[in-house]
Amino acid sequence: MRINKQIALAARPQDVIKVTDFALHEAKVPALEPGQYLIQNQYLSMDAGFRKWMNEGADDNYLSTMELGSPVQSMILGHVIESRNPDFPQGTVVMGRTFWECFSVAGTEDFVTRLEHDGSLPLNEYVSTMGPTGMTAYFGFFDVGQPKPGDEVLVSAAGGAVGSVVGQLAKIAGCRTVGITSSDDKCAWLIDTLGYDAAINYNAPEGLAAQIERELPNGFDIYFDNVGGGMLDVAMLHMKEYARLVLCGAISQYSKMDEPAAIYNMWEFIVKRATARGFMFTDYVEQYPGAIKEMGNWMREGKLKSVINTYKGIEQTPKAFCDMINGANRGKNIVEL
Ligand SMILES: NC(=O)c1ccc[n+]([C@@H]2O[C@H](COP(=O)([O-])OP(=O)(O)OC[C@H]3O[C@@H](n4cnc5c(N)ncnc54)[C@H](OP(=O)(O)O)[C@@H]3O)[C@@H](O)[C@H]2O)c1
Repeated sequence: MRINKQIALAARPQDVIKVTDFALHEAKVPALEPGQYLIQNQYLSMDAGFRKWMNEGADDNYLSTMELGSPVQSMILGHVIESRNPDFPQGTVVMGRTFWECFSVAGTEDFVTRLEHDGSLPLNEYVSTMGPTGMTAYFGFFDVGQPKPGDEVLVSAAGGAVGSVVGQLAKIAGCRTVGITSSDDKCAWLIDTLGYDAAINYNAPEGLAAQIERELPNGFDIYFDNVGGGMLDVAMLHMKEYARLVLCGAISQYSKMDEPAAIYNMWEFIVKRATARGFMFTDYVEQYPGAIKEMGNWMREGKLKSVINTYKGIEQTPKAFCDMINGANRGKNIVEL
C-alpha cells in the first residue's frame, strides 16, 4: 500500500499568509475505481490565485472553498503510474489541478490534460512558461489584450510568474512595456533581466499615480492587471482611448474578500471607450498545443526567458507558496518532489 504525503490547510490565512497556516499529513493512497488513474507528482506549481479559495465562504462558479484539514488545491505535473482509464495509460505525462501531494488520484471529472512534449525543453518548464503560468500570460495578453505593434502596455505584479512572461510577450509583439513591482531592486531586475522598458516601484514615496504619469504620459493601451484593488483604480485614470484592461487576477484583494477595495474611476471607461474583460486560463485548453508550440519556439530562439525558483521536497511547499504571495519571488516558484 502506498502512503501519500500531503500539505493540508491548517488555518485560514489572515492578512499575512504564514507557513504555519499549513501542515504535513500522511494518508493511504486509495485503490483506483474504473475511470481513475494514479499520478506520481513531480512538480507542484505555486499559483497565487489559489489563495482566494483558502478563505471561508470563497465558493464561486469556478472553484470551491478549501476545507480546513484537507489538502490544498494546486496545479501539478506528473506521470501516470497506474491506470483504469484508457485515455491516460501508464507512462502518460500529465498537467492538471489536484493537490499539494506526492500522489494524486484523478478521474474523468478532473481538470487534467495529457502533456505532449518533445524533450527539447526541460520538463519543469511545463509548470511554468509552457504550463498554466505561460498559458495565462499568452491568452490573457494576446486574446483579451489584442495588442498591436507600438501599443504601450502596463503590467502589475510584473516580476511575478505571470507578469514576467507578459512583459516579454509584449516586447515580442512590438509593444513598449512598463512594469509595476514592490522595490527598486525588483524594478532594476525587470528592466535588466526581463527587458521591460521602464519600471515603477509602488512603494516609492513618489506614489503610483505620479510614476505612471511620468512613464506613460499619454496613458496605456493595455493594462494587464494581476493586482486589482486600489492599484487598478489608479491605473484606470491613465487609459488611452479604446484601452483594453486584461483582468487576470486581484492579489491585493485575496486576503480581504469581505471588504474589497472600492473602485471609483468607472466613468473613465465611458469617455475613453475602454473595455475590461476577465478570463480564466482554463478557457483555452483546446488551444494550448498551438500556444505551447509558439512559446517553445520563442524560448529556443532566446526571445523568451523563463525564470524558475525550485524548492525541493513537499515539506518546502508552504514556504514556496508564502514567499510567492509575499513577493519574495522573481518569476515562478515551483516545488520539485
Ligand atoms: N485568470 C487566470 O486564469 C489566472 C491564472 C494564473 C494566475 N492568475 C492571477 O495572476 C496573478 C499573478 O499570479 P502568479 O501565480 O503569477 O503570482 P506571482 O505574480 O508570481 O506572485 C504574486 C506577486 O504579487 C505581488 N503582490 C502580492 N501582494 C500584492 C499587493 N498587495 N499589491 C501589489 N502586488 C502584490 C508580489 O510581487 P511584488 O513584489 O511586485 O509586489 C508577488 O510576487 C494573480 O492575481 C493570480 O490570481 C490568474
